[in-house]
Amino acid sequence: MTRKILILTGAGISAESGLGTFRDVDGLWTKYDLDEVATPEGFARNPALVHEFYNARRKNCREAAPNAAHAALARLEREFDGAVRIVTQNVDDLHERAGSKAVWHMHGTLSKAVCAACTHRWDAPAVMVPADPCPACGAAATRPDVVWFGEFPFFMDEIHAALEVCDLFVSIGTSGNVYPAAGFVEAAAGAGAETLELNLEPSFNATAFGERRQGPASEIVPAWVDEVLAEG
Ligand code: OAD
Repeated sequence: MTRKILILTGAGISAESGLGTFRDVDGLWTKYDLDEVATPEGFARNPALVHEFYNARRKNCREAAPNAAHAALARLEREFDGAVRIVTQNVDDLHERAGSKAVWHMHGTLSKAVCAACTHRWDAPAVMVPADPCPACGAAATRPDVVWFGEFPFFMDEIHAALEVCDLFVSIGTSGNVYPAAGFVEAAAGAGAETLELNLEPSFNATAFGERRQGPASEIVPAWVDEVLAEG
């Protein structure tokens, strides 16, 4: 019987909330150069541009609302007689605003700022600029508390431990292009978990999943949650 569910989410779960995905036809990486806005090197070259990119995303996020898929996962956590944990690649806070509590943001979060000089963290203001001083040490080394390409994602020890013990691993709205998240399905399956992909279209690593369901997250996620809760 399934008692520990580990859920990986990506940009696709927030797409119907109006937040852009990265690699779809109209995705963010078709409009912005990933190397310029999502790498430490890009930030060193042009911090103002990188802040502008994340300021815009923070604004989009503030104006967006969780959709039925976020709400269904929060309901699953509340009502399931077992453990439900979300690992999200998303830097938005829509899982939390829908009511989910057990959420690891492996790629960080737009809602926090971090000082690159002293690692102090604080609530990010709506608009950040390179001259912003760190409230703790005063250095003008403020950055969004997000993980860029070439950096190590957060919570990796906890995530690997959770992959080892989950009975069911579910991946929602992610293209399976970016590691280490793209490798989680193999890790979970290798440790004996069932695996399920819920995505608009088959992901890059769809064949690694035991079961795949296709459709918009706002429809297929609530339907799956209803099934799990009905099974008890
Ligand atoms: P992608 O843009 O790579 O993939 C989004 C996935 O969601 C695609 O497979 C879409 O088919 C699917 N999708 C789109 N709309 C959907 C909907 N309404 N319902 C269900 N699925 C839908 O985004 P991620 O996989 O999240 O990292 O990208 C992973 C990482 O790459 C991001 O965290 C970010 C990015 O570069 C960093 O910035 C470090």
